[in-house]
Amino acid sequence: MNKRFPDSFLWGGAVAANQVEGAYQTDGKGLSTSDLQPQGIFGQRVTRTEGDFGIKDTAIDFYHRFPEDVKLFAEMGFTVLRTSIAWTRIFPEGDEAEPCEAGLAYYDRLFDEMAKYNIQPMVTLSHYEMPWGLINKYGGWASRTTIDCFERYARAVFQRFQHKVKLWLTFNEINMSLHAPFTGVGLPEESDQQAVYQAIHHQLVASGRAVKACHEIVPEGKIGNMLLGALLYPLSCRPADVMETLQQNREWLFFGDVQVRGRYPAYMKRFFAERNISLQISDQDRLDLQNPIDYISFSYYMTGCVTTNEEENQKARGNILSMIPNPHLASSEWGWQIDPEGLRILLNLLYDRYQKPLFIVENGLGAKDTVEADGSINDDYRIQYINDHLVQVREAIEDGVEVLGYTSWGPIDLVSASKAEFSKRYGYIHVDRDDSGNGTLARTRKKSFFWYQQVISTHGESLS
Ligand code: BG6
Repeated sequence: MNKRFPDSFLWGGAVAANQVEGAYQTDGKGLSTSDLQPQGIFGQRVTRTEGDFGIKDTAIDFYHRFPEDVKLFAEMGFTVLRTSIAWTRIFPEGDEAEPCEAGLAYYDRLFDEMAKYNIQPMVTLSHYEMPWGLINKYGGWASRTTIDCFERYARAVFQRFQHKVKLWLTFNEINMSLHAPFTGVGLPEESDQQAVYQAIHHQLVASGRAVKACHEIVPEGKIGNMLLGALLYPLSCRPADVMETLQQNREWLFFGDVQVRGRYPAYMKRFFAERNISLQISDQDRLDLQNPIDYISFSYYMTGCVTTNEEENQKARGNILSMIPNPHLASSEWGWQIDPEGLRILLNLLYDRYQKPLFIVENGLGAKDTVEADGSINDDYRIQYINDHLVQVREAIEDGVEVLGYTSWGPIDLVSASKAEFSKRYGYIHVDRDDSGNGTLARTRKKSFFWYQQVISTHGESLS
């Protein structure tokens, strides 16, 4: 018989407000960066006009249909659901003195619904969206005013939900600002590295302040960071490739280093000097950074390779990160390379580096599904993907890594982040909607729904 996961291990799924809620102008919600990019985080930024269309405007209408969805999650046996709070529901412009009651009340209803089924919420404070008002008035994270506004927002939601939410995360995939500055830090895409790293610094300071506030207001809560776990392997064993890989892995590990250790790592000194980057860091900033997170969370979808060989570098591809394909791995329909063992490697690497508990808060396969004539969806490819990754999580636990839980991405079909596609589905629950926004939004259970239900009820013993 297969080994069980620890009884305390949390099982569930993860969604983000802007990819499921819809209701983008309901109950006083302000415009967010996500609303201004209806084609996704790599799409164009547009000016919204009355009556125009964006697929996220309705998304899967989770805002109104969450009771049905939470019930389905409970049927699968979820003990945790990761979602985000849309900052613009609480502070529509970002700089108001007081939070918006209608926005707070919506999340009260959502968390109460989850509590009915003993599903623990895990809440991301900012998942790929921020108030457009803060960019328009202050220049987004280029400004220190945004740090204060974020702290006010974080304190408001800690205060309001302190008895309902014990697991918090600061910024989703905080390292993505290096690749999508508008989504990450509210800067124009063409911003130079000096501007991007200064804005990132402000966000790291804000993250430190949020950790401090959470510890004050929710003393028995835990607050973590969220990294895009973009593990890179050397393409060859040439020392130059190995060194380049170390450097490129540090570009994203840097965020975790600051959030865990409370200061900039030594290697960044040279990195900044060689790029003529000079950061404004105040004494107060240094103190704010010294608020280490309680646990590390990360997303894991794929790995890639690194080389200094120019010819090989021409082959780099990908729609979120541009990476050199690994000749030993197969790819998803979207070119993301499938590497279950990489998850065990990454868990070990992060635990060796930080000795902090880890939480896998995103993992999954984006794929096109076929609805059969009888309405069934036989998504064996998704089952295989999740199964193989969970087997490696269990291996990592056996290795001694402290893993708190696993929330697969998009347990219910949702709008994809990079290109706002609906046909790229991650769910165990199918939603009737297409890329143009047609469909009834009806929910149906896929084959993977019953499979995941069994995995959870057997604490992983049913994995093959
Ligand atoms: C992560 C994000 O990058 O990957 C999610 O945190 C996103 O918001 C997920 O949806 C998958 O990416 P995509 O582009 O397939 O939706």
